Amino acid sequence: MAISRLRRNVPLILFGVAAFCIAGSYLLDILIQREQQRRNAELYLNFEKVFSNGPASNFTRGSERVRKNLIVVSHGRSGSTLMGDIFNHHPSVFYMYEPLQSPERVMKGFRGGNINYSQMVDHFLTGLFRCTFDDPDILYDMQRYYRKPDHPRISQAIASPPLCPYRLTDPKWNPKLCHPMTSKALGTACRDHYDLTVIKVLMARIPENSIKTIFSSCNSKDVDCKVVFLIRDPRAVITSSRIIGFFKETGGRTALQGTKSYSYKRCKQTEENLEYVRRLPDSLRERIKIQRFEDLAMNPLKELSSLFEFAALPVLESVKTWLKQTTHSSRAACNHMDGVDVTCTKDDYWTAINRWRWGAHPHEIDIIEHNCAKVMNLMGYRPVDRSNDLLVNRTIPLFRETFEAKHWFLH
Ligand SMILES: *[C@@H]1O[C@H](CO)[C@@H](O)[C@H](O)[C@H]1NC(C)=O
Ligand SMILES: *[C@@H]1O[C@H](CO)[C@@H](O)[C@H](O)[C@H]1NC(C)=O
Ligand SMILES: *[C@@H]1O[C@H](CO)[C@@H](O)[C@H](O)[C@H]1NC(C)=O
Repeated sequence: MAISRLRRNVPLILFGVAAFCIAGSYLLDILIQREQQRRNAELYLNFEKVFSNGPASNFTRGSERVRKNLIVVSHGRSGSTLMGDIFNHHPSVFYMYEPLQSPERVMKGFRGGNINYSQMVDHFLTGLFRCTFDDPDILYDMQRYYRKPDHPRISQAIASPPLCPYRLTDPKWNPKLCHPMTSKALGTACRDHYDLTVIKVLMARIPENSIKTIFSSCNSKDVDCKVVFLIRDPRAVITSSRIIGFFKETGGRTALQGTKSYSYKRCKQTEENLEYVRRLPDSLRERIKIQRFEDLAMNPLKELSSLFEFAALPVLESVKTWLKQTTHSSRAACNHMDGVDVTCTKDDYWTAINRWRWGAHPHEIDIIEHNCAKVMNLMGYRPVDRSNDLLVNRTIPLFRETFEAKHWFLH
């Protein structure tokens, strides 16, 4: 009896389950939106707090020694490894690839402990911007991370004298011979051997996902920070993020829930940061340079010069030669010295900027264009708007030379 009643009710039950799932996903969207709105409001409140004392007094400095820093901020899969590597190849630069991985891992290690990630990052960056590395847990993690055998060239400075006995170009170079990364060794190398510290960090690792957080850890007279805000076509970023496993599809292959929420989240963060820059006073805005990955890929040497000019670094032939070569190789040229696939920067960059067009599913593109419409419009990325001809025709570029947000930046 009970079973037959159950059977009769199966369609009803299925309907109930489906309705529940749909309602659940709407609820999730609403919750995500609420959280974003809350964060948005907070962004501006904090902005007022940090800069109400007069930004000029905190960011311009007198004649005393000021440590210079440059921070490359972007989403993952935006070409930030290449961008960072441009600085990594400059002999005046103390370069660190994704240093916020260390506080992130250290925090995870203290499972359930009473550690506040924002505070930990603030402390870490405040030190790093002065070449001070005083947290033993973070140092221990950095030692393991930057000396990993599959990341040999991740930081030229950390792999070179005085931190290692030989230069990377020396056949005798071997990561096993490098000295332990003590607080003193690292600090001295950074401070006394290099004019500029450059770090590249993913927006996802920055507390509040905001450039504002970077500036508030740099809010002192003895440090100076500039930011390169790197942006790439979200259609390339999101599809590549899925392929590499930054997120997974959920709710079935056709629902593309993963793509929906990931593209929404990432584009919202870009949008908020653009808006943050737009509202900054000129004295701070001049510390930020916007860089589209596509421009770098199309015209690497020209963009290199303007990046180095922004960073106040001389443009060296050695860096130009390296960049010319790395942007005209193919992925197949990646070898052991380049590190794992994710960190290898060799690519034919025309192919790199267009690859998503032949690899992605049109439905996936459609979702991204829907969720990223505002960023795409501000950044000059042309939507294909469900036109397959537009999507696959190689002679039609999908980014415009000029774009609205460019006018918000002074560089
Ligand atoms: C900015 O610098 C002034 C001193 O020059 C200091 O009193 C003020 O607290 C600083 N602002 C912040 C937000 O730290
Ligand atoms: C972490 O610290 C910041 C202030 O530095 C505070 O605003 C935030 O609420 C704290 N987060 C947690 C989870 O305690
Ligand atoms: C690609 O676009 C160009 C310029 O709009 C057009 O002339 C050409 O016919 C298109 N090619 C194909 C295969 O549709």
